[in-house]
Amino acid sequence: MHPLSTTPPTADLTPAAAAPPAVFPAFHFAAAAPLRYAVHFTRGVFAPENPLLEQVLAAGPEPAPQRFICALDAGLVAAQPDLATRIEAYAAAHAGTLDLVFPPLVLPGGEAAKNSFDVPHQLLRLARRLRLPRQSHLVAVGGGAFLDAAGFAAALVHRGMRLIRIPSTVLAQNDSGVGVKNGLNLGGVKNFLGTFAPPAAVLNDFDLLRTLPERHWCAGMAEAFKVAIIKDAAFLDWLLEHAAALRGRDQAAMETLVHRCAVLHLEHIATNGDPFEQGAARPLDFGHWAAHKLESLTRHDLNHGEAVALGIALDLRYAAAIGFIPRADALRVIAGLAAAGLPIRHEALGWLDLAGKPFVLQGIEEFREHLGGRLAVTLPKPLGARIEIDQLDEALLQRLLAGTDEP
Ligand SMILES: NC(=O)c1ccc[n+]([C@@H]2O[C@H](COP(=O)([O-])OP(=O)(O)OC[C@H]3O[C@@H](n4cnc5c(N)ncnc54)[C@H](O)[C@@H]3O)[C@@H](O)[C@H]2O)c1
Ligand SMILES: [Zn+2]
Repeated sequence: MHPLSTTPPTADLTPAAAAPPAVFPAFHFAAAAPLRYAVHFTRGVFAPENPLLEQVLAAGPEPAPQRFICALDAGLVAAQPDLATRIEAYAAAHAGTLDLVFPPLVLPGGEAAKNSFDVPHQLLRLARRLRLPRQSHLVAVGGGAFLDAAGFAAALVHRGMRLIRIPSTVLAQNDSGVGVKNGLNLGGVKNFLGTFAPPAAVLNDFDLLRTLPERHWCAGMAEAFKVAIIKDAAFLDWLLEHAAALRGRDQAAMETLVHRCAVLHLEHIATNGDPFEQGAARPLDFGHWAAHKLESLTRHDLNHGEAVALGIALDLRYAAAIGFIPRADALRVIAGLAAAGLPIRHEALGWLDLAGKPFVLQGIEEFREHLGGRLAVTLPKPLGARIEIDQLDEALLQRLLAGTDEP
């Protein structure tokens, strides 16, 4: 019988003579799935009189009340010990529409949340124990690392339960928490595991940032400089003008920064034609080839934002050295990073391997691998616009790292 025949097989089970190799017509599957969610900006998200969380949950597909569980970043809870109580009170005040089916779970935050399966595993076990369907919600509140780990779990429950992210760091509110990815580290490789899994919604509560330690407050601004340098010259000027106020914890200025930076990231994901990063180019990773390497070289002593600031400073000097931007522009922006409390120099940039080559340059090869084999590095040309290049001059980078070739 022909392998594509619909006639039922006969009872004759005699082995047929081997059929010659063949290629049959393919069925070309194509379906466009809508990719749509809202990123909200608010203050006091868990105040019972704030309707936002209730409205967002009420939009879920379950018959009322909407079931949800809640996962809280332990670092955030240490700084805001009444958080779980406030969330329980919020759910109680909206009992007609919301059903918090289990007390909020407090789990480790920071990079440790991504370095093992512990956080996702605990959430997966809870979802199983409560027999939650994919139509129910996980509300995750915390920093970028915690949201990456919690989002990873949400993506696996019945192939994806609804995730509401409530980011609590500058970096998570303006970058990592508003996008379409999650991630876990494996064997020391950042984000080796992970899925593309858009959230049901994101709620950026500016008040949550008030307890953020200064180091993380400043670190998150690196992503704003990053996106401004390659996409928005006016925003970059604004950042340079407000750098000192931002560092000094000017709350209104930080709200402006978070909003503009989040919108720039979202516009990019929505309009660049490649939300799931199938292609090689990764413009939002400007400054990141060195950053990722610096994070692992220092065993996360440098956090992501700090490493990004160092990566940006290096790539700005490189862009000036090859004539993409004037030297004065590079120096002006590097001074702005420093004024915003971000590092622009670090001893790890000078660490050499046995062959006398800076370790950080290994980041180029790792970045190439991460991109799937073809290097694509984004640089500003001029400030506020970008260009992709497919190779980096290592000798020039070495001179820049050694300080023998200014800027
Ligand atoms: N998924 C993505 O698209 C994406 C994009 C960029 C970065 N990331 C990831 O984000 C992570 C970095 O996130 P981050 O910069 O938010 O750091 P983080 O998540 O490590 O948080 C920093 C620290 O602050 C604590 N914390 C959180 N909120 C707090 C608050 N309001 N008050 C007091 N303490 C608080 C945390 O417990 C943690 O100890 C990295 O793992 C990075 O890879 C992901
Ligand atoms: Zn980043």
